[in-house]
Amino acid sequence: MGDRRLAVVSGGGTGIGAAVARGLVADGFDVLVVGRRIDVLDSAARRICDESGRDGAVTAVAADLTDPGQVGAVVDAVGERAVDAVVNNAGGYLSGPTDSLGGVADWWRANLDANVLTAVLLTEALRPALRRPGGRVVLLSSIAAQRGGAGPYSAAKAALHGWAYDLAAQLGPEQITVNVVSPGYVAETEFFGDRMTPEGHAKRVAATLVGRAGVPDDIAAAVRYLVGPSAGYVTGQVLGVNGGSVLGR
Ligand SMILES: NC(=O)c1ccc[n+]([C@@H]2O[C@H](COP(=O)([O-])OP(=O)(O)OC[C@H]3O[C@@H](n4cnc5c(N)ncnc54)[C@H](OP(=O)(O)O)[C@@H]3O)[C@@H](O)[C@H]2O)c1
Repeated sequence: MGDRRLAVVSGGGTGIGAAVARGLVADGFDVLVVGRRIDVLDSAARRICDESGRDGAVTAVAADLTDPGQVGAVVDAVGERAVDAVVNNAGGYLSGPTDSLGGVADWWRANLDANVLTAVLLTEALRPALRRPGGRVVLLSSIAAQRGGAGPYSAAKAALHGWAYDLAAQLGPEQITVNVVSPGYVAETEFFGDRMTPEGHAKRVAATLVGRAGVPDDIAAAVRYLVGPSAGYVTGQVLGVNGGSVLGR
């Protein structure tokens, strides 16, 4: 790693995050990929470096971003460098028991932790290191925030929107932008695990206007635009990348 721009991508070992990391390396960034599974991160880092021919462009950092005590590992890996972009992509839908109030509380907390706290803790930890002027913060939400359908996951992703507006107002005077990318259905990631059925896939494809599932590179393209130099006048926005499944919001 040297004088290149630096991006931190949470959940960068798989799916959308790995596509973002690959795209940002192609755009000339060095990238720190953060997640809980170091083996997954290491192999993504190796793959991206091999493909790009840029040895050392991607560094893997293991941290559970719901745990304030582990986020320091990312700050340590950044060191003295300025952070040009923080891409808060870690998250996912967590199922939970609903047969007791305690179970409901656990289920909600797990989704809020995985989707909100991961982004809040990483961004707050890196806030002092953000490049001024010119830093970028991106939050990965979901179409579920805009149309519901997934209980506490929908609510957790929607929480990111309100927080993004405040953060955009706080950081705008320092020429740092904060935006939300809200993907629709994206196949080829670990998101659905064994929950996806052929019928579920077909239903989601049919709900788009373009008649196909999204792929991680569709989402990475939006992130690359927002962290790029030409997007400095775009802040406090929610960009839907959903094949037209939800219109205009
Ligand atoms: N796929 C879709 O259809 C879709 C649609 C809308 C929104 N999204 C959102 O897009 C983002 C990326 O999802 P994806 O589809 O690419 O799924 P994915 O492959 O499951 O990616 C999620 C990533 O987040 C990491 N992660 C989860 N919890 C973490 C934690 N506590 N600390 C650190 N890292 C954590 C995971 O790595 P470890 O398990 O190793 O930690 C994994 O690499 C998520 O926020 C998801 O909610 C996805």
